[in-house]
Amino acid sequence: MDYILALDQGTTSSRAMLFDAKARVCALAQQEFAQHFPRPGWVEHDANEIWQTQLACARQALAEAGVAPGAVRGVGISNQRETTVLWDRASGEPVAPAIVWQDRRTAEACDALRAQGHAPLIRARTGLELDAYFSATKLAWLLDTVSGARARAAAGELAFGTIDSWLVWRLTDGARHVTDASNAARTMLFDIHRQRWDDDLVALFDIPRAVLPTVVASSGVLGECAPDVLGATIPIAGVAGDQQAATFGQACLAPGMAKNTYGTGCFLTLNTGQQPVESQHRLLTTIGWQRPEGTDYLLEGGVFMAGAVVQWLRDGLGLIRSAGDIEALAAQVSDSGEVVMVPAFAGLGAPHWDAYARGSLMGMTRGTTAAHIARAALEAVALQNVDLLTAMAADGAEVKELRVDGGMTRNNLLMQLQADLLGVPVLRPQQTETTALGAAFLAGRAVGVWPDDAALAAHWQLDRAFEPNASADWREALIARWHKAIERNRGWADG
Ligand code: G3P
Repeated sequence: MDYILALDQGTTSSRAMLFDAKARVCALAQQEFAQHFPRPGWVEHDANEIWQTQLACARQALAEAGVAPGAVRGVGISNQRETTVLWDRASGEPVAPAIVWQDRRTAEACDALRAQGHAPLIRARTGLELDAYFSATKLAWLLDTVSGARARAAAGELAFGTIDSWLVWRLTDGARHVTDASNAARTMLFDIHRQRWDDDLVALFDIPRAVLPTVVASSGVLGECAPDVLGATIPIAGVAGDQQAATFGQACLAPGMAKNTYGTGCFLTLNTGQQPVESQHRLLTTIGWQRPEGTDYLLEGGVFMAGAVVQWLRDGLGLIRSAGDIEALAAQVSDSGEVVMVPAFAGLGAPHWDAYARGSLMGMTRGTTAAHIARAALEAVALQNVDLLTAMAADGAEVKELRVDGGMTRNNLLMQLQADLLGVPVLRPQQTETTALGAAFLAGRAVGVWPDDAALAAHWQLDRAFEPNASADWREALIARWHKAIERNRGWADG
């Protein structure tokens, strides 16, 4: 039997999954790691802790499955995107905490660039909104702030990478400093059309060229794990940002197919084939995966808080004991009692792009209970996705049905709410570990475990379809109240 080991490095946990050639999960290991919030709007990770938890999970998954490392045909990596790591090439040590994608510290730097008129160029080359979300301003901040970093970077002593790059560096014991095209596409330094680092943007953000990784295909052998890391020299054969990997794992391989992943945030992607579609409604155009046979592009809308809202209800408010409890709590009431939550804890992403919005709960009365707040939280997750789908439709991209994945999709109440609010069927597959599966697919295709894309698509099996079943009046009222709340919230933390 052939095996593929998928490393799924997410925002709040590292995971490893061993898949067999029938795309079955043979073992799964997961470890949460620390989130650091040193100032309002800042979010940091310890890159060493990310590596250590990831390595421990990989070893644990192999041990639990009882599979010898030599039987693993390839490693695939999917990762939280944009999170920025800068490390010393000689020692392998990060020179500062990693700046996480949710971090807003460079919002003002983005404002300044916008005022100077750079947003259209950035959009044209990278397909991205000028926003603190992406890596470029985070990297520039590190180069400017860490003592001596800029000079050392120019001298070739430092390496920049998103998490994929950092993991490959560590897996290969420093032999490979690479990133794949789907991750490069999230840095705001990469021309997604020519598929190379963009000289103008590299100059605009004042990034020393020597700090950048080499860009490689998302599916293809890019290096080997050093022998002592996992116990064998296993090829690393697939890498993609987690949302792109999930799109691949959901077998959204043909133009018009869409998925939504409910992780820390929610990321809705639509495959537009080999044609990048430019959004007129503030969605992102991004690379799905680059392969020898061509590059697939996605239209993407991402919201920053989904599962993280539930995590906050659990850890910040202590309203629930475990994340799964939110469904039963929210089900105690038939509506939110007109309470609206705007989960702008890290600003708002697509299509609002308001770095200064902040979380709020509105419409509370003396009758408001924890159940209403739980319900408002689920509605907020679903309503954010309504804005994404509406923007896609306005861009002429009609989504007829939505494949869903991620931990929150186990929540039937949320899934039904989602279908009701979107007005399209929501399809939950049997395999909801699609991010890891996508990484495994990308690696497995490269080393011949799966002969073609049809073999991948054959593994997609429906678990449950949630059909829209709500009145237009109900839907419109909720959406109107939601937009009213968003407007009240706009620019809250500005100045
Ligand atoms: O762009 C950020 C995204 O990649 C994070 O994904 O799954 O950690 O919420 P996740």
